[in-house]
Amino acid sequence: MNDAFGRPQSMVVLAGTSEIARAVVRRTVADRCRTVVLAGRNPTTLAEAAAEAVAAGADDVPTLLFDAGDPTGARDAVDRCFAAAGGEVDVVLVAVGELGDQSVDETDPERTAAMLTVNFTWPAAAMVAAAARLRTQGHGRLVVLSSVAGVRVRRANFVYGSSKAGLDAFSVGLGEALRGSGAGVMVVRPGFVRTKMTLGRPEAPFATTADVVAEAITDGLASGAEVVWAPGALRWVFAVLKNLPATIWRRLPG
Ligand SMILES: NC(=O)c1ccc[n+]([C@@H]2O[C@H](COP(=O)([O-])OP(=O)(O)OC[C@H]3O[C@@H](n4cnc5c(N)ncnc54)[C@H](OP(=O)(O)O)[C@@H]3O)[C@@H](O)[C@H]2O)c1
Repeated sequence: MNDAFGRPQSMVVLAGTSEIARAVVRRTVADRCRTVVLAGRNPTTLAEAAAEAVAAGADDVPTLLFDAGDPTGARDAVDRCFAAAGGEVDVVLVAVGELGDQSVDETDPERTAAMLTVNFTWPAAAMVAAAARLRTQGHGRLVVLSSVAGVRVRRANFVYGSSKAGLDAFSVGLGEALRGSGAGVMVVRPGFVRTKMTLGRPEAPFATTADVVAEAITDGLASGAEVVWAPGALRWVFAVLKNLPATIWRRLPG
């Protein structure tokens, strides 16, 4: 249960090695969240992330393995995470994602399917499993990392962008379905964030850091926000970009 100030006491992270997720964990643990469970695909980097959370003040941080390439394992991954957290969870952070290689992903059907699975199908299945647990608890927030890339999909990265568009729409819908249950969804729409995902790629305008996104997320949790943009100015930038005529949108750099 959140503490008397509405701060989460327990958190499950699906993709605990994500740099954005690690920044969120550092902030929530500093704010006295003690129970943290990290799930991911790489035991070595998961152990590093767990050690970082313990050093920040979390209790023992269990780590669990899952592969987002296999959506049939999503329910099991979520069940194992809740069990490791002791049964009840205040925040489930869904950070799994892959930027991919657009030139391959738009021409190789297996890669197209793999991208949509990791970025959309697995997270959506995991969110349904987690939502059922939160609904039963009667409290808790699902926080999902969407992207501005899904707000208006670009030719240059339409495979990744469309997977995020799908995930974003799904998450908004799931939030509506949870309304009145005590549980809820917060959709996070970062722009370009300097993490290992974007390493070596040209920066987009309003490029930011994982710490800035983490601050937006913890502020959003505290205020009960349903949608968070990071940095916040992107909300207004995309209100304009979304409505540009296609002929102008196509000519924008990036
Ligand atoms: N960086 C940005 O500019 C940006 C902008 C908007 C939204 N986002 C979204 O924010 C989220 C976190 O991204 P990030 O910037 O923190 O990048 P990141 O550090 O690369 O995080 C991506 C996470 O997804 C995990 N992952 C990828 N494929 C997986 C698979 N098949 N099975 C299990 N886990 C898998 C990665 O595991 P490994 O560590 O083992 O690779 C990593 O934990 C992603 O959903 C991303 O799309 C990022």
